[in-house]
Amino acid sequence: MCRSSKTVSGFSTRAIHFGYEPMDHEGALTPPLHLTSTFAFETAEAGGEMFAGERQGYIYSRISNPTLDLLERRVADLEGAEAALATASGMGAITSALWTLVAPGDEIIVDKTLYGCTFSYMRHGLAKFGITVTHVDLTDPANLEAAIGPNTRVVYFETPANPNMRLVDIAAIARIARAAGAATVVDNTYATPLLTRPIELGADIVVHSATKYLGGHGDLVAGMVAGSAEMITNIRTTGMKDMTGAVMAPFNAMLILRGLKTLALRMERHCQSAQRVAEALQRHPAVAAVYYPGLPGFAQHDLARRQMTGGFGGMIAFELTGGYAAGLSMMNRLQLIRRAVSLGDAESLIQHPASMTHSTYTQEEREEHGISEGLVRLSVGLEDCDDILADIFQALPDSSAKAA
Ligand SMILES: Cc1ncc(COP(=O)(O)O)c(C=O)c1O
Repeated sequence: MCRSSKTVSGFSTRAIHFGYEPMDHEGALTPPLHLTSTFAFETAEAGGEMFAGERQGYIYSRISNPTLDLLERRVADLEGAEAALATASGMGAITSALWTLVAPGDEIIVDKTLYGCTFSYMRHGLAKFGITVTHVDLTDPANLEAAIGPNTRVVYFETPANPNMRLVDIAAIARIARAAGAATVVDNTYATPLLTRPIELGADIVVHSATKYLGGHGDLVAGMVAGSAEMITNIRTTGMKDMTGAVMAPFNAMLILRGLKTLALRMERHCQSAQRVAEALQRHPAVAAVYYPGLPGFAQHDLARRQMTGGFGGMIAFELTGGYAAGLSMMNRLQLIRRAVSLGDAESLIQHPASMTHSTYTQEEREEHGISEGLVRLSVGLEDCDDILADIFQALPDSSAKAA
């Protein structure tokens, strides 16, 4: 396995250097890409010992690979976790973790709002196999206290949640879950470890769609799981190796290692621009509501200030006074911002959750889960903020209002 580099401390320094020493690799500044599916054993006995867990080493890339290994140790370090696992997608991370943690008869308590495919996996996937999925409004920890029971194995949520930006108090929820013997699993895709580190707040497992900010360039699909060494070994050898097979390609691991080098710089710019865009939207007469944790009027702004210590992120949700129809025509008038799902890319992206990412819910389910039909989701990119604002303002119904 790779040797650690010298002791380094700051977030960006670790995102660039952690776990890699060029002099161990012929001086190569950039870590080598190990494009291999399998690994040769020096002797047949050595191979047998590796399978028996009696000897360290690489066997086969569905289990581990040196390029993935470096990414895993780097992400674990950034999340403040003991270990991490790289997966083929965010859904691969979520499904590999949860298939490992639950068995028929168990209950998972999840927040009301989830990314569409996570919701679908819970409702139509896990539920088919005798696992009870209970949606609880986790924005008030007292609701968890009332709902948690002896069969609850996992408490699962996103913060901020996709797409409506609601926040969950990680420390309060993890305390209640731990006391009841349940594991807390947090989807940290929106926040990234720069803004929020759930494990330091008491969560057991963090999952990511690394497709988003960790990769950062919209050129790959990938996921990560972080947690204790014991849990990650279980998820690797059970959920991923034998159940989902959702292993990350080494080439994608290399691209994410490259993306991580600029994660802090990119997030700082995403946060700055999103704050300006949210404030400008809020002042516009055609905008009925803006959901952004950095706005003083955001319902959970105090929690955001406590929990999102690195910034309020690059995601905004908003609704126009003209509702669904006004939202769609505004999206169609945009010239710079791309009409596309996904998020966290250099390009600003806009989409309509009810007809796109959250169309996995029925309309009634969306109503029940706080996802309004007119909601528009904006991923603020890295373009010049003045250009993003100008595009939004020329597309909004009342273009006489001025961009800030
Ligand atoms: C919050 C969140 N979690 C998980 C996922 C799933 O990730 P992936 O698309 O990489 O499978 C997404 C995808 O949009 C997401 O937004």
